[in-house]
Amino acid sequence: MKNLINHKVSLGKKSYTIFIGKDILGSIPSFIPNYQKYSKIIIITDENVYKKNQRLFSYVFKKEIKFNQIILPHGEKTKSFKYLELLIDKILKLEVDRDCLLICVGGGVLGDLSALSSSLILRGIDLVQVPTTLLSQVDSSVGGKTGINSKYGKNLIGSFKQPKSVIISTDILTSLGKRELVSGYAEILKYSFIKDKLFFRWLVKNGKKVISLDSDSCIYAIEKSCIIKSKIVAIDEKEKGIREILNFGHTFGHAIESITGYKHKIKHGEAIFIGMYLAIKFSIFLKLCSKDILFHYSSHLENLGIPFNLEHYNIKISPEEFLKHMRFDKKVKKNKIKLILIKDIGLPVRIFLEEEKKLSNFLKDELR
Ligand SMILES: NC(=O)c1ccc[n+]([C@@H]2O[C@H](COP(=O)([O-])OP(=O)(O)OC[C@H]3O[C@@H](n4cnc5c(N)ncnc54)[C@H](O)[C@@H]3O)[C@@H](O)[C@H]2O)c1
Repeated sequence: MKNLINHKVSLGKKSYTIFIGKDILGSIPSFIPNYQKYSKIIIITDENVYKKNQRLFSYVFKKEIKFNQIILPHGEKTKSFKYLELLIDKILKLEVDRDCLLICVGGGVLGDLSALSSSLILRGIDLVQVPTTLLSQVDSSVGGKTGINSKYGKNLIGSFKQPKSVIISTDILTSLGKRELVSGYAEILKYSFIKDKLFFRWLVKNGKKVISLDSDSCIYAIEKSCIIKSKIVAIDEKEKGIREILNFGHTFGHAIESITGYKHKIKHGEAIFIGMYLAIKFSIFLKLCSKDILFHYSSHLENLGIPFNLEHYNIKISPEEFLKHMRFDKKVKKNKIKLILIKDIGLPVRIFLEEEKKLSNFLKDELR
């Protein structure tokens, strides 16, 4: 196939391949290892993805595979116990056995929910991810984290379950709204900040092309992001060490998402743009990095017209509430908040906050 990129995620017996290309969903069986062995195939999608890609479901997939289909509501609210139970019930009703395969065709919400279901049903059935948002293509479909939210915080209930393959077809992004697309750029920018200064320089030059879906630039940014993430996951699948750097901006970001109730007001990636901005500012506050880093970050996003602070989104949060929600995030150990901060672009640092007062003072200044 022309211009098809394969990247192996090395995890011993759990290794799998990420396939990246344009218009590749027409040959979906060729990307699924031992495709013939599956007794039943169930495609899980959400109402938006289904409506906006009718041809894919009623023609392209049908031509290649025989499948059952489950369509769920869209949005972060679907990552809940209610929909986990509903999805599992719908799958069990289809009388599945352990040789059943789930194919998730959707964004990060559906990917996390489907992956969690696949790790629970019959103590584990296979899953293939077909991510349909930029965010899920560069981040959530790779690495095996599954999850749903709790009223106590984001992603607090979940498991690790690696997919059998990840199939990324960039043409599916054309039906995605601009806001969703830009939201995915947050994780791409995060990879450059935690691991690769040269990639950041590339983004400064080519970021506009990525968010305008220029095919080559988009594929390059997705490939680069998947490579950075999968190398980290290969070293530390269960997040006992280096994988934590992927949480840069996320402790602040998850607090914002929890406070705003995972509503439409703020998307995951938007919360991460703000989260990274606050993480850089807090790094400066703790004298870990120079103000130049903030300048590079903000001017890049300003050039792209991407908002990155709370006022831009009309969100007001008190320092006390912010801190309370940061404590609820799972990145808290022995009562100390764990944060990924930054010394330089490409040089993250993990800190355990000995004195919460510093964070509280910072938030008081920042959220005035
Ligand atoms: N598991 C992980 O490692 C990991 C990593 C990062 C983020 N996440 C999770 O991912 C979630 C966010 O994912 P997301 O940004 O993809 O959101 P999402 O799944 O909610 O998708 C965003 C919206 O776009 C719609 N949509 C999806 N694909 C479309 C398409 N091709 N055309 C038209 N509409 C489409 C969806 O219906 C939804 O309304 C969060 O819950 C976050 O916690 C998980």
